Amino acid sequence: MKTMTCIEDLRQAYYGKVPRAFVDYCEAGSYAEETLRANRADLERIKLRQRILHDVADRSTKTTILGEPAALPLILAPVGLTGMQRGDGEILACRAAQAAGIPYTLSTMSICSIEDVAGGVDKPFWFQLYVMKDRGYIRALIERAKAAKCSALVLTVDLQVIGQRHRDIKNGMSVPPEIRIRNLIDMATKPAWALGILRGKRRTFGNIAGHYPGMNDVTVLSKWIAEQFDASLSWKDVEWIKSLWSGKLILKGILDVEDARIGAKTGAAAIVVSNHGGRQLDGAPSTISMLPAIADAVGADVEVMFDGGIRSGQDVMRALALGARCCMSGRAYIYGLGAGGQAGVARAIEIIRNELDTSMALTGIRSVAEIDRRAVAAM
Ligand SMILES: Cc1cc2nc3c(=O)[nH]c(=O)nc-3n(C[C@H](O)[C@H](O)[C@H](O)COP(=O)(O)O)c2cc1C
Repeated sequence: MKTMTCIEDLRQAYYGKVPRAFVDYCEAGSYAEETLRANRADLERIKLRQRILHDVADRSTKTTILGEPAALPLILAPVGLTGMQRGDGEILACRAAQAAGIPYTLSTMSICSIEDVAGGVDKPFWFQLYVMKDRGYIRALIERAKAAKCSALVLTVDLQVIGQRHRDIKNGMSVPPEIRIRNLIDMATKPAWALGILRGKRRTFGNIAGHYPGMNDVTVLSKWIAEQFDASLSWKDVEWIKSLWSGKLILKGILDVEDARIGAKTGAAAIVVSNHGGRQLDGAPSTISMLPAIADAVGADVEVMFDGGIRSGQDVMRALALGARCCMSGRAYIYGLGAGGQAGVARAIEIIRNELDTSMALTGIRSVAEIDRRAVAAM
């Protein structure tokens, strides 16, 4: 793993190890992918301010996230189907995050269930919730997250309908993948991946299978999921979730100043400035372009987290400089997972940490708390 010197190296290795349908599922944005591209392009446009002779010998990337110590201002974002990128992928990613001293978020749409992950790791993790029409199921999921001692609930609020990803339709993307000749040939060329999946605990949506009779049948399950996303979702549901979950609540998917103000008043501990990694509203602005106004609007009422396009420690620095307290990252650690399992995720985190550390030194900054707009070069 030491020869993997940057996230792009992990990405290249990932392409060689995971079948195309799952690579595409990870990489795709919705529709014309304008927002997906904008997330990266707008981050790259922000230039950091080089400072010299500031005695940065004694510096640290350590911080706190929702009051808990963290080795760096980074969280592994919820990513659906992680266990199809690598057998037991959710457990492996969570272990790597915990060993590195940062939070891991398990998706509702994970392959390993809440209980599988709780049984496979040492410490509490975060759980991400999609609110579905069947509110009884949501109530039960929250109870399961409590029983597993999840330390925060991340409520995703930007997916009440699903943005179309053309590549998934073309690939016959489903769980397990549709049996198409192209998929079969592709999988046959990735034997290590196939073996890992066969040895893994599950090959379907672990949090949902078994909820209804017949739900272990994948076709029934996929149909149920497609019908269950709830377009009637409103701020009232956030209140309802708060009444069921007394722990830390995080609202993920805020991209508008007005929504951020409302979100900050719900009693949530944090908001995540996110456009779902460019997978939902195509044509929406990049997350980094909206971050400063949102951070100004909510002030110190809630912690502001950022995601969308983080591929380096320099990107983390850019987001912190523009008002975020910490960042979530999705694809960067999935590349690591596909490329090298738990060690690959650990390497992705280490790369980002080292880059952040060096960037702090070269901008004359000793602590994460010191990173603010002065770290950005005037253009
Ligand atoms: C393959 C994939 C699956 C995702 N699944 C979920 C999910 O189940 N729940 C969720 O809240 N966000 C999901 N997201 C969005 C991520 O949590 C995060 O917002 C996004 O990946 C950030 O952008 P980045 O990948 O550029 O870091 C997913 C993203 C990807 C790439």
